[in-house]
Amino acid sequence: MERIKTGILELDRILGGFPAGKTILVTGDPGTGKTIFGLQFANACCAQGMRTAYLSTEETAGDLHLQGKSFGWNLDAFEKNGTLKFMDLAGNRAVEIKTALSISMEAVKGNFTELADYLPEGTGVLIIDSLGSHTANLSPYEFRDRFDLLVHNLARTGITAMVILDSITSKEFNDIALFSAYGAIQLMKRENPYTDRRERVMDIVKMRNTKTPIQLLTFEIGLQGIELTSPGEVSDTQ
Ligand SMILES: Nc1ncnc2c1ncn2[C@@H]1O[C@H](COP(=O)(O)OP(=O)(O)O)[C@@H](O)[C@H]1O
Ligand SMILES: [Mg+2]
Repeated sequence: MERIKTGILELDRILGGFPAGKTILVTGDPGTGKTIFGLQFANACCAQGMRTAYLSTEETAGDLHLQGKSFGWNLDAFEKNGTLKFMDLAGNRAVEIKTALSISMEAVKGNFTELADYLPEGTGVLIIDSLGSHTANLSPYEFRDRFDLLVHNLARTGITAMVILDSITSKEFNDIALFSAYGAIQLMKRENPYTDRRERVMDIVKMRNTKTPIQLLTFEIGLQGIELTSPGEVSDTQ
C-alpha cells in the first residue's frame, strides 16, 4: 500500500506514513496540536510534490502562514508555486465554499462535485480543519450519513484526507467518525504520574492495514513542529 509521509519523522518510521487515498481522522481538545499537525502534514505533502488543499474553518490563511513560519515551513513558496492552496472559510469569500462543503456532505442525494469544484485541479491531499463547526445542527444519524458520504467521496476521487475533529464535537459524533475513518489519531495532554508534569501524547486509535503501537506516543511541539519524544516507552521511563 502506498504511504504518504506525515512530516513527523518518528511517526513515519513507525507507521510508514498515512495510507494513500484514505481518510485519517485527527481528534483532540483545543490546544492539543491538531492544527499544527495539519500544517505539518500539508508541508510534508507539498514537499512530496502533492497538490494539497487546506480547508480552514476557524483560522485565517494569514494566521496559518504565520504558524507555519514559526516552525520554519515555507508555506508561502508552496502556495506561490501552486502546490498548496489555503481555503479559508473564516474569511469573506468563503461563504460559497462553506455552502459547497455542506452540500457535499448532504446525505443521500449529495455528490462530491460541489466540494471538488472548489479544490484546485489535481488536488491529491485535502486537510479539513475542522469539521466541528459544520456539525452543530445535525442529529447523530445525519452526521453518520454525511460523514460516511464524505469519506466515500474522498476515497472515490483518490484523495488522501486528514479530517480534524474538535473534541468539542459531541462524543457520539466522535465515535461515529472514528468508526468510519480508515485511521484515527487522538491528541491529548495528560499528567505524567512519574514526573508530575503535563505532557502531550498521541494515541494511534486505529490505522487499518498498518502495524500500530499500542502505547501512547509522547510528543513535543518543538522548533520544527511536532516531534515524538519517547515512542513506545511512555510509562516506563522511571
Ligand atoms: N511555535 C510554537 N512552538 C511551540 N509550541 C507552540 C507553537 N505554536 C503553538 N504552540 C502550542 O500549540 C498549541 C496550539 O496548537 P494547535 O495546533 O493550534 O491546537 P488545536 O488545533 O488542537 O487547537 C498552542 O496552544 C501552544 O501551546
Ligand atoms: Mg486548531
